Amino acid sequence: MKLENKTAIITGAGSGIGKATALLFAREGAKIIIADWSDEGKNTAEEIGKNSYFIKTDVSRAKDIDNMAKLCLDKFGKIDILVNNAGIARTFPLHETPEEEWDQTINVNLKGAFLASKKVIPEMIKQGKGKIVNISSIAGLVGFSQASAYCASKGGLISLTREMAVEYAKEKINVNCIAPGIIETAMTKEMLQDTALRKSFEEATPYPRLGQPEDIAYAILYLSSSESDFVTGQVLTADGGWTAK
Ligand SMILES: NC(=O)c1ccc[n+]([C@@H]2O[C@H](COP(=O)([O-])OP(=O)(O)OC[C@H]3O[C@@H](n4cnc5c(N)ncnc54)[C@H](O)[C@@H]3O)[C@@H](O)[C@H]2O)c1
Repeated sequence: MKLENKTAIITGAGSGIGKATALLFAREGAKIIIADWSDEGKNTAEEIGKNSYFIKTDVSRAKDIDNMAKLCLDKFGKIDILVNNAGIARTFPLHETPEEEWDQTINVNLKGAFLASKKVIPEMIKQGKGKIVNISSIAGLVGFSQASAYCASKGGLISLTREMAVEYAKEKINVNCIAPGIIETAMTKEMLQDTALRKSFEEATPYPRLGQPEDIAYAILYLSSSESDFVTGQVLTADGGWTAK
């Protein structure tokens, strides 16, 4: 097992990519804190059973982040892995984006990763090792129409990843990032019900299918395991070839 005796906090693990990652991590021997603002996180923890706890968490609130880290330390005594996965995506033309929508997207997708990292890094320094995986998006690498706040938050997360990787490499804290392409989850459900839009996404993806949550979970597993100890500050793009064209 790749994560035997490891402990992990996964944000947004009530659904989609986060949930698939939690289930995979559990199969690989990890003990897991499921942090989600939705009660769906409880179902993920129950499905895993032993060695998994749910805590209702809004990643954009420092107090919630404190409680999340505290639960991991109280239950497991250490924090080996942090997966900053919680995210939201809402679409508006830029010139019609309400300011509060911009703020909320940046606060969840970017500030949330900052707050959680800020909280766990001192523990990882004490432990002499740690892994942080940020879930960005190909929208952080290329432009997507009507997604100004989302693109900006995901591009910012890539920059934050590189910054943290450089700052904490000497502490043996690896910080990497994944840029998924179009993955079939609750986030994309509505878009993918639009047949024309789905077809356009399929045509933009050279690989002959769209992504599934498990495709990303395996990439997160690699960046969370000792197999990637010499990899830091990188963006692993898992998009079926979308950005290779
Ligand atoms: N689905 C895709 O095509 C795709 C592509 C690229 C990147 N991503 C990124 O992957 C990550 C996971 O997305 P997904 O597709 O699994 O979506 P999802 O909607 O299925 O899951 C997101 C989870 O995050 C939780 N969440 C949202 N805001 C939160 C907050 N403030 N605090 C705590 N939890 C919160 C939700 O409750 C949900 O459980 C996101 O960061 C998303 O931007 C998704």
